[in-house]
Amino acid sequence: MVNHYPEGFLWGGAVAANQCEGAYLEDGKGLSIQDVTPKGGLGVITPEPTEDNMKLVGIDFYHRYKEDIKLFAEMGFKVFRTSIAWSRIFPNGDDAIPNEKGLKFYDDLFDECLKYHIEPLVTVSHYETPLNLAKKYDGWRDRRLIGFYENYVRTIFTRYQDKVKYWLTFNEINSIIHAPFMSGGVMTEKEKLEMTDLYQAIHHELVASALATKIGHEIMPHAKIGCMVLGMPVYPLTPNPDDMIKTLERDRENLLFSDVQVRGKYPAYAKRLFKERNIKIKMELGDEEILKNTVDFVSFSYYMSICESADPTKKAGKGNLMGGIPNPYLKESEWGWQIDPKGLRYILNTLYDRYEKPLFIVENGLGAVDKLVEDENGNKTVIDDYRIKYLNDHLVQVAEAIEDGVELMGYTTWGCIDLVSASTAELKKRYGFIYVDRNDDGSGTLKRYKKKSFHWYKEVIATNGKSL
Ligand code: BG6
Repeated sequence: MVNHYPEGFLWGGAVAANQCEGAYLEDGKGLSIQDVTPKGGLGVITPEPTEDNMKLVGIDFYHRYKEDIKLFAEMGFKVFRTSIAWSRIFPNGDDAIPNEKGLKFYDDLFDECLKYHIEPLVTVSHYETPLNLAKKYDGWRDRRLIGFYENYVRTIFTRYQDKVKYWLTFNEINSIIHAPFMSGGVMTEKEKLEMTDLYQAIHHELVASALATKIGHEIMPHAKIGCMVLGMPVYPLTPNPDDMIKTLERDRENLLFSDVQVRGKYPAYAKRLFKERNIKIKMELGDEEILKNTVDFVSFSYYMSICESADPTKKAGKGNLMGGIPNPYLKESEWGWQIDPKGLRYILNTLYDRYEKPLFIVENGLGAVDKLVEDENGNKTVIDDYRIKYLNDHLVQVAEAIEDGVELMGYTTWGCIDLVSASTAELKKRYGFIYVDRNDDGSGTLKRYKKKSFHWYKEVIATNGKSL
């Protein structure tokens, strides 16, 4: 097998604050949109936080991060991706002064990583817009969000400039098309949202992202600032030219976001897309100039590929946020997400061909039901051979892509420790190398146990991929 993971390759794992920290009201934190979205899928909002919302406690990472980072260090992590909970820093999003206790928490967290020579990779906004910004402004539909976000990034860039070298401006920025509330804090129901309003919110995020890149480069000339998109290769269901055109269009809907962030302007195809959907974006003087602040690298999540067809009778399967028609050649996970390791090689190549910018895989993993058992020594563990196979198969394809010439900075598996799922808000869907004893009925000791995959990943990192 070809296997040339480069020297200094950043192996690690990823989480997001709202899915693991818990402590949802501690030390001055304000509510985020996640605190009112309990189990039951996207778009279900409660007026107040409710006890059945697993994210309020999460895996109690807020109090146990030292133990967890020690375990990451034991696996040999070089990088740890997490997000800053915006509402810990600015509880209402539009406050004038940041919350010192929130800032201090991340100081301690990043110091703990650095103690083990683990580089923090930080997402500025990961599906956790302060609730006040959603309620008062309808989230990113309102241009004033750019100013609040600017204030927030200035604060965190200044504070952590000596601790954090790698930054991502928005998690899966393109997911707003399918999940405007979770991704963009837009309270208006998706069905009632006009296309113009949706794309206006998108424009605001793109301007804010470019502004963050500009400010980041000014404050931290040594830092690398990337965009983050939901990576999903789209295959035509058949070679019918109509399916090909549909595929191209679907791909562009997704790629528009990275196209703007990498090239610094709206792509040529946007004109027709906007015309046909009757989208009229209000651009302000100076927006075009700001957009010219392009990212240093392109990061993405990868879980699955989808198919596209011009035939309206072909229906979307389950899959993640983006939906999509199932591929008859692929098997799926217990949650109906299609498993396609070669799709990862494919998307690495297409993104690199398109941008020739360094890439970073910042999410990839398998959500599965795990069973805690006792090993021969009486220690509790999970024999997660299915997860090892999933990750191994994907990493073999990553090695192929590197051989193809793709410049790749690193790889962080999603949910390196079990956490609360984003799309279904349950804990039963586990991704981690570390099992957390907490269940969807709220029971459990919160104790951590190493799964079989823990030892597998440790070996992969120690051999820089040679053990795959
Ligand atoms: C990505 C998100 O879409 O997928 C993560 O960035 C999320 O926040 C991950 O957890 C997996 O999705 P889910 O719904 O299984 O948690």
